Amino acid sequence: MGQRKYDIAVIAGDGTGPEIIGEGVKAIEAVSRKYDFQISFDRYDLGGAHYQETGETLSDEVFESIKDCHAIYLGAVGHPEVQPGVLEKGILLRLRFELDQYINLRPVKLYPGVEIPLKDKGPEDIDFVVIRENTEGLYAGAGGCLRRGTPHEVAIQESINTRMGVERCIRYAFDLCRRRNRAKKLTLCGKTNVLTFAFDLWERTFHEVATDYPDIETDYAHVDALCMWMIKNPERFDVIVTDNMFGDIITDLGAVLQGGMGMAAGANINPEGVSMFEPISGSAPKYAGKNNVNPIAAILAAQLMLDTLGETDAAQMIERAVMKVLEEDLKGVAAGQMGYSTSDVGDLVVDFIEAS
Ligand code: IPM
Ligand code: MN
Repeated sequence: MGQRKYDIAVIAGDGTGPEIIGEGVKAIEAVSRKYDFQISFDRYDLGGAHYQETGETLSDEVFESIKDCHAIYLGAVGHPEVQPGVLEKGILLRLRFELDQYINLRPVKLYPGVEIPLKDKGPEDIDFVVIRENTEGLYAGAGGCLRRGTPHEVAIQESINTRMGVERCIRYAFDLCRRRNRAKKLTLCGKTNVLTFAFDLWERTFHEVATDYPDIETDYAHVDALCMWMIKNPERFDVIVTDNMFGDIITDLGAVLQGGMGMAAGANINPEGVSMFEPISGSAPKYAGKNNVNPIAAILAAQLMLDTLGETDAAQMIERAVMKVLEEDLKGVAAGQMGYSTSDVGDLVVDFIEAS
């Protein structure tokens, strides 16, 4: 068998993106040496600065070249001087949609040694995964406006839910729940009491697909109640499946259960195509260039990437390194509170990998 080799497109992006992605790249290089695979990084200079210089978010030419890689490793897009939506839609959402990354997988896992605002809840209570539909819903961009800027303005933004899109997402969630092999419980998060068209489709599909998974317990919660349960009884959850908008919202709440935005990673997955891995923190411009934000989310995104590429030993090694650094080295996980700089934290992770 020839040596495994992966071409990774790196879009470090805006704000703190480049700093934290740099630490993830260090960790990937360290495990590639240890587990003997080759990795090459193609860097794409996209984001706010590039847009301001060229007026371009993601050109078709660049898109064509990115789509031939094995995976995409993304820092963050979003720039204080660029109108909200331009970079998000032009880069992040375009990649998610055009590469049909229909699953947004976001682990919510509290590691030992990490402090969170909840008292009485620890790592044994907080370990679940949110499967967010990633190509439809309110994000599909359906709608429009009329008489903009006048007192008679009308704005319509519709949620698109297709049977195909809902079913493939729900099936993925059931499969994952089976693979995880923990509580084997899948919770549908919706709003069937108000969104009676969209979540009727979700609910019917959920119960139909469930008949193929008799070993998985099914559960339902309205999104508002689910937010409450996430705080009161996070141990109730194993896998949660939900639409694009609700998934966006509940995973920021989920990030708090893990120690904050510096700890939360996500995978935009096309199981048959090119997937993209990112810390979910955003570009955090006020911290940019200070070398003091937490790179763990980006390093955990690298773990998700290697796991999805099939480099499971390397992925596990990264997780072990992160756990050691969280438990034994860092004083805190928030920006400026770690007792170490961003690059120090990356070095600690690499040191552990090399010494193992
Ligand atoms: C996320 C982000 C994005 C989203 C933004 C930046 C468009 O909040 O990945 O959760 O809403 O999906
Ligand atoms: Mn979000």
